[in-house]
Amino acid sequence: MKKIKVMLVFGTRPEAIKMAPLALELNNDGHFDVKICVTAQHRQMLDQVLSIFNIKPDFDLDIMKPSQSLSHITSSVLHGLDKILSEERPDLVLVHGDTTTTFAAALSAFYAKIPVGHVEAGLRTYNIYSPFPEEVNRRLTSHISTLHFAPTQRNKENLLRENITDNVFVCGNTVIDAIKLTVKKDYKFKSSSLQSLHDCKNRIVLVTAHRRENLGLPLENICAAVKRLAEDFPDVKIVYPVHLNPSVQKTVYSMLSNIQNVILCEPLCVEDMHNLIAHSYIVLTDSGGLQEEAPALGKPVIVMRNETERPEAIDADTVRIAGIEKDNIYSLSAELLTSTSAYKKMSHAVNPYGDGRASKRIAEAILYYFGMGEKPEEFVYNS
Ligand code: UD1
Ligand code: UDP
Repeated sequence: MKKIKVMLVFGTRPEAIKMAPLALELNNDGHFDVKICVTAQHRQMLDQVLSIFNIKPDFDLDIMKPSQSLSHITSSVLHGLDKILSEERPDLVLVHGDTTTTFAAALSAFYAKIPVGHVEAGLRTYNIYSPFPEEVNRRLTSHISTLHFAPTQRNKENLLRENITDNVFVCGNTVIDAIKLTVKKDYKFKSSSLQSLHDCKNRIVLVTAHRRENLGLPLENICAAVKRLAEDFPDVKIVYPVHLNPSVQKTVYSMLSNIQNVILCEPLCVEDMHNLIAHSYIVLTDSGGLQEEAPALGKPVIVMRNETERPEAIDADTVRIAGIEKDNIYSLSAELLTSTSAYKKMSHAVNPYGDGRASKRIAEAILYYFGMGEKPEEFVYNS
């Protein structure tokens, strides 16, 4: 039997976390010859994920530069992938989500006339500047992809509205598959920064913020709100793993260093991170991935952005949009820390994004597309 040659291309931390369960699934299924190409748009934060999931890339473009521009990422990925795709000629290229690696890799495969499968397709804000440049990366990728793996029914409907109607499969989000591999009972943190949390009885507030559109004043507002929370709730431990973007590091370390109940640390490995979410009381974030993970683990999320392409958990009332004004971020968070009823209302586990079987459905959908299997059942969320 001839195997289907599938090349997964990814470059940043969240892509790696969400592609890892799919890489494992495809590798364990005898129908596929799997190749992994990393762009290394992220270096250390990507390598952390590869090492946890024991993924050894076949190709590494190693493109990251300090404070890199979007044009640098796009042009380096196009340049690097051209040769690899023409030599390897995979039957399918898989990309994930909305990063500049995603779009540039899809474009490169399109130029080589190799079909693209887009994992996590169909999320939209309909504002091209928010998230920037991710909304446009994701939209453009949709229009040059052949297979569309939409996490939710709503994501599929977004695609249908854009006349993308063929080969759209609702599979759930592979991030829920990842959580099933990482979250463990009685987990012991690996990071030295988190050792004090093992027997800690204090409530933990987990903070992450890194998005390009939040750099500068919005991130300063976020830090000011976190600082006020730390002062007003001395019994709460605030943990903020700081993204390696130099601009994020500068703002966060200058505004939040040396506060007794704030732990600033290096990016955590994904096992530490997922188990830290599970140990947290609430999560304050501008991350896409955390908006999916925290609801699955029953943790209320305050989103520090003006809009989200992930409205499902807002409907389930486990996520609230605070925007980027300091008073709003503070007051929504403070309410959850003071009102038990407000907290209870938001702290139920919901899984609108998946059931842990997304990778399996994607593998089945690929086999179906190549005429080697049945169409998979769609992921359906029963609230
Ligand atoms: C990128 C993605 C964003 C995603 C985020 C996840 C784009 C345009 N942005 O944003 O969609 O949400 O990743 O974190 O695709 N750096 C390091 N080491 C690392 C990673 C980053 O030093 O391992 C530093 C470098 O100086 C790099 C800078 O961070 O130039 C920015 O990285 P970049 O990938 O351009 O942007 P992110 O903000 O990480
Ligand atoms: N994450 C991690 N370590 C950290 C911070 C985040 O492993 O220190 C994980 C997080 O659990 C999620 C993903 O990285 O799975 C989100 O990445 P990020 O916030 O960088 O990007 P986004 O999701 O916003 O694109």
